[in-house]
Amino acid sequence: MSDLLKRAYDPEKFRKQGHDMVNRLADYLAESLNRTDIPVYPYKEPDERYKDWDRDFNSPGEEGLSDFFDDTIRDSIHLHHPRYVGHQVTPPIPIAALSDMLSAMLNNGMAVYEMGAVSTAQEKVVMNELAKEIGMDASAGGMIVSGGSIGNLTALLSARQALQNSDIWIDGNNSERQLAIMVSENAHYCVERASKIMGLGDQGIIKVPVDDDLKMRVPALEKSLKNARDRNITIIAIVANAANTATGTFDPLDKIADFCRDEEIWFHIDGAHGGAAAISRKYNNLTKGIERADSVVIDFHKMMMMPALCTAVLFRKENDSYQTFAQKAPYLWGDNDDKQWYNVGKRTIECTKRMMSTKIYAMLRTYGFDLVREYVDTTFDLAAEFAELIYADKDFRIVSEPACNIVCFNYIDDFEDLHKSNAFVTSIREEVIKSGRFYISATLVGEEMCLRTTLMNPFTDKKDLLELLDLVREFARDEISKLEEVNLHT
Ligand SMILES: Cc1ncc(COP(=O)(O)O)c(C=O)c1O
Repeated sequence: MSDLLKRAYDPEKFRKQGHDMVNRLADYLAESLNRTDIPVYPYKEPDERYKDWDRDFNSPGEEGLSDFFDDTIRDSIHLHHPRYVGHQVTPPIPIAALSDMLSAMLNNGMAVYEMGAVSTAQEKVVMNELAKEIGMDASAGGMIVSGGSIGNLTALLSARQALQNSDIWIDGNNSERQLAIMVSENAHYCVERASKIMGLGDQGIIKVPVDDDLKMRVPALEKSLKNARDRNITIIAIVANAANTATGTFDPLDKIADFCRDEEIWFHIDGAHGGAAAISRKYNNLTKGIERADSVVIDFHKMMMMPALCTAVLFRKENDSYQTFAQKAPYLWGDNDDKQWYNVGKRTIECTKRMMSTKIYAMLRTYGFDLVREYVDTTFDLAAEFAELIYADKDFRIVSEPACNIVCFNYIDDFEDLHKSNAFVTSIREEVIKSGRFYISATLVGEEMCLRTTLMNPFTDKKDLLELLDLVREFARDEISKLEEVNLHT
């Protein structure tokens, strides 16, 4: 055996390097939480960053490892910094990061029971407890998959298999029978993508209009369904948002559940972001009816403090999850008809799967769901506080009333031209993130571009939010002066 392989597996080297890395990560965590002077996002154009790393690639091997750890930390976006208020990715709790390292090292692949026995058992515990927390009964259960997009696709494939008088798995899509999924016009794009992956074509996705509050309109749902049935389209599922990505708006789940029950249609909830609200005692009114869905997706890496990716796909009747992939794999499983909960690969798109449950299990056995409750309540409360600050400031306006921890707002401007106004918002956002002092996002609400914050960090406070408004104000005024100057000279 070569010396190289021995060195790469050397336990003592691993011990030393591991301690070094954990020390650096602990320093990063302390620096971030203390708001020391590290940029929230070290802004660089993609080509410039690529060149830096391409250059780094030729630096010395093992001797340079500490520098590599450091540079990776410094050059990344810092989710643990309380002034990170951008997209819906959580600052993971340290115990989850440690458990993920355990999973990476053990690499128990999970497709079949023996290859991931521990995490398979842990996954069942986690999923059963989550089902209970959101109000489902003992017949509920499910699996953990690689992200909300895969989760929604997995659930919708189950819904398709549950259709009466069809076995699409065997027969393929039948051009005589157009199938479709109905979803709010504000849904995440992955739902439409799922329908395209399922081969349903342009007719396979029916967008249901929303009301002024951006919630799915149930009367419009009725109309859309009638319309679809008149055109001989069979509906696989109705998908509700809990909540939608841009504004964090929750669809009226209970009413949609009633509708699905009456019409005998599969009810799926995309709760990738806001499904965790069901665990809160303060905010679970937002998800009233979630327990009535046939399937629900909830991302642990959004509102449950886990590193990406890991997503729960819950079925109200766990038995439904066994029919999704009626596929034979004799090299993995013996009897294909048996409902073997412990061979999780039978029910997921993934064959080999990371030990995703281990970190969630570690969090729950250490802190319980109380930690999730506190995280949800703190971040949702913070958004309400931010909205109050915006309402109280004459320079700003709220674009959509926040329901959870997503706040969309804008500087008051008097552009009449929408393109100019949207370009103005985009340039303010760019200035904010280039400053390194905050990281925020932007989104279209209808046709209007607006600034968007998702308060993912429970350590963000009122002072941070006031400073964010001041910074936006400063850049907005600068931008307006620049535009006025250009107008003067043209
Ligand atoms: C509502 C909603 N659904 C699905 C997704 C996709 O989830 P993932 O990024 O885990 O694939 C997102 C991502 O932001 C989302 O907000």
